[in-house]
Amino acid sequence: MKTITSIADLRTLARRRVPRAIFDYADRGSYDEVTLRRNRADLEALQFRQRVMIDLSQLSVATTVLGEPWSMPVAIAPTGLTGLFHRDGEIHGARAAEKAGVPFTLSTMSICSIEDVRGAVTKPFWFQVYLMRDRGFNQELIERARVAQCSALVLTLDLTVQGVRRRDIKNGLSIPPRLTLKNALDIATKPRWALGVLLGKRRTFGNLESHMKGTGGLVTLSQWIASQFDVSLTWKDIEWIRSLWPGKLILKGILDAEDAREAMATGIDAIVVSNHGGRQLDGAPSSISVLPEIAEVVAGRCEILFDGGVQCGQDVLRALARGARACLIGKSFLYALAAGGEAGVSLGLDILRRELQVSMGLTGVTDVRRVDRGVLRGG
Ligand SMILES: Cc1cc2nc3c(=O)[nH]c(=O)nc-3n(C[C@H](O)[C@H](O)[C@H](O)COP(=O)(O)O)c2cc1C
Repeated sequence: MKTITSIADLRTLARRRVPRAIFDYADRGSYDEVTLRRNRADLEALQFRQRVMIDLSQLSVATTVLGEPWSMPVAIAPTGLTGLFHRDGEIHGARAAEKAGVPFTLSTMSICSIEDVRGAVTKPFWFQVYLMRDRGFNQELIERARVAQCSALVLTLDLTVQGVRRRDIKNGLSIPPRLTLKNALDIATKPRWALGVLLGKRRTFGNLESHMKGTGGLVTLSQWIASQFDVSLTWKDIEWIRSLWPGKLILKGILDAEDAREAMATGIDAIVVSNHGGRQLDGAPSSISVLPEIAEVVAGRCEILFDGGVQCGQDVLRALARGARACLIGKSFLYALAAGGEAGVSLGLDILRRELQVSMGLTGVTDVRRVDRGVLRGG
């Protein structure tokens, strides 16, 4: 593809460059994928008010989130297995984010470890954790994040049990990836990926190595989750996490006003309004549709981050208009990474930034920190 003008172009390129099982792992959702589709459809349904005759000579997309300056209201979401989309994918993502002046979030389920990423960037990144049955191991992970000077800890709440992703089962997704009779032809047509990832040194969960002894090294993601994640997680556990992590704490996976109320009571720094990108509870509402009611409950007491379906700068503007301070990108990031490594992610972030600038200009807003529901038709 000669000219890349959108995240959709990066997605097309990603599909050509990585094996089917890896692409589908990012691209698809749980069960019938109703929520996955809703995330996009509900964003697209929000119409802007086109405004004219407003001086745009000082337009700015720079913002601050949790006291940190961001060059635009977009951060990279935690995504497991990122290093299977491109060799050392987490390092590429973190470097591109650092250059773009936005945060990168490293998933517990990453291929590169906390220490690998720390060694590759100069600024702190965010670290995401799940609560595991083995609290000692959780404690160890959080300590490693502290030593790596991570600037925020993101605790994901919406994956104590895993939504079934039928595509992953059918594709036989395993970690590390293996060459089988079934996928041999597919992999043979992706030589760049095979040389980079399949023959690379990092192909399994970098943060979990010490914890995976005895599994024989080859597992499916769902097997690992079912055996390790703590299904007894409740609001009381936030206190325990707080005792281990005095820094910025973000709760990810709030989709209901009642849960937002509970979250407020724990005194956290930010929440992420999220349905895990349509990968968990199928039939749940889109994140954009519940954002206003959650923003009303939060009422400025903590920062609100948003994710779910963000694939263009217009989507970022829509989320900000409905009460978010900033957006996270999951799939858009992975498409960009698979398409072109660090350069691909830089391009993806650049595309989002330019789209946001143009959309702000045409809706007559010059400072991204002042976006409100006034940019949308019907508020
Ligand atoms: C392939 C993939 C892996 C993910 N892994 C994680 C993870 O390890 N931890 C987590 O909190 N969220 C994870 N998520 C969810 C994202 O952080 C984010 O909530 C979601 O992708 C946002 O929706 P979007 O993909 O439409 O941008 C993952 C998402 C994708 C697409």
